[in-house]
Amino acid sequence: MFLKNCWYVAAWDHELIDGKLLARTLLEERVLLYRGESGKVVALNDRCCHRGAPLHLGRREGDCIRCMYHGLKYDATGKCVQIPGQDVVPAKLGVRSYPVVARDHLVWIWMGEADKANPDDIIDFPYLRDPDWKGIPAYLHYDANYLLIVDNLADFSHLAFVHTHTLGGSEEYAYISKPLAIERLERGFRVERWHMNAAPPPFHRKVIQDKDAPVDRRNIGHMHIPGIFFLESLFSPAGTGAEKGNLEGAKQYRNCQFMTPETRSTTHFFWNYLNNFEADDSNISRSLLNSLIEGFMEDKHIIEAQQKILDEDPDFKLLAVVADAPLVHFRATLARLIAKEQAMQISAAASKPAAAVFSPELAMK
Ligand code: FES
Ligand SMILES: [Fe+2]
Repeated sequence: MFLKNCWYVAAWDHELIDGKLLARTLLEERVLLYRGESGKVVALNDRCCHRGAPLHLGRREGDCIRCMYHGLKYDATGKCVQIPGQDVVPAKLGVRSYPVVARDHLVWIWMGEADKANPDDIIDFPYLRDPDWKGIPAYLHYDANYLLIVDNLADFSHLAFVHTHTLGGSEEYAYISKPLAIERLERGFRVERWHMNAAPPPFHRKVIQDKDAPVDRRNIGHMHIPGIFFLESLFSPAGTGAEKGNLEGAKQYRNCQFMTPETRSTTHFFWNYLNNFEADDSNISRSLLNSLIEGFMEDKHIIEAQQKILDEDPDFKLLAVVADAPLVHFRATLARLIAKEQAMQISAAASKPAAAVFSPELAMK
């Protein structure tokens, strides 16, 4: 049900500060994440191969982790390197390790076949490393399937109804602003929507001086497989020609959101909402963080309620409207990629000789 051979966000790097052992379920697998003493980020299956104790209750030793049940020690590749009281460590003893890349404060993980992991495939969001753009990394947990959050982001008209008094500003947004462009991309979509001569929405109003001057508002959203959303927002003094490229007096935001499945019905949601106009006034970032939490709690409220309704009746057929074109395209693309990946796995498994069965008796010798 998940696409495995792709990069997902597993954590913000600040979650691994000070040697923290972070236990996180990703795509229904228990993963332990930590930063080793050398600075290397490690991701291992969070289950000791001996008796199944969780490794996040263990102890970090250098870049290694020691299970604090019977003391088996694993290196950063997951290989068991020490069994207290036993001289020989059978080569087979170990736990799965996952390719990880720490980049721009994000920790990316590859949950599929390790030999296919290429860090060059990680989607770049340069604003996270650009000192001109400021923001505060944040996290929310959802009791909902990650694709319901993707659906939500695919249609900005929900801003009008879910976020009338926070991120949206008015119900008018849904009626008079239309998606200017919906582009189907090979692995996602791009949507663009303009709202001309509108009152600044509450989250923006809080951080600007001229609170009542109308603005021309533009949102450009990019959604990428498996659930990565980038939003470029522009608020320009109304009527000054932002749509023709005049950005004088404009205020801009860059927003990244990463939806990583925890399970089929729960999601890790990471985001950062960046601005390039706060200079030394970090209160702007704080205000935006609070506004976004307020707004995302509104999404969470309706999406989690939607998930419960959908769970009650798996036969319920959803009916599409015109604005659903991006989400329909995204879900079809993802389904095709998952089907292709699974077909390849089945054919690879069929051509492999049967693996030798591990024997605990042999491990004792
Ligand atoms: S369960 Fe981990 S060492 Fe025994
Ligand atoms: Fe929303």
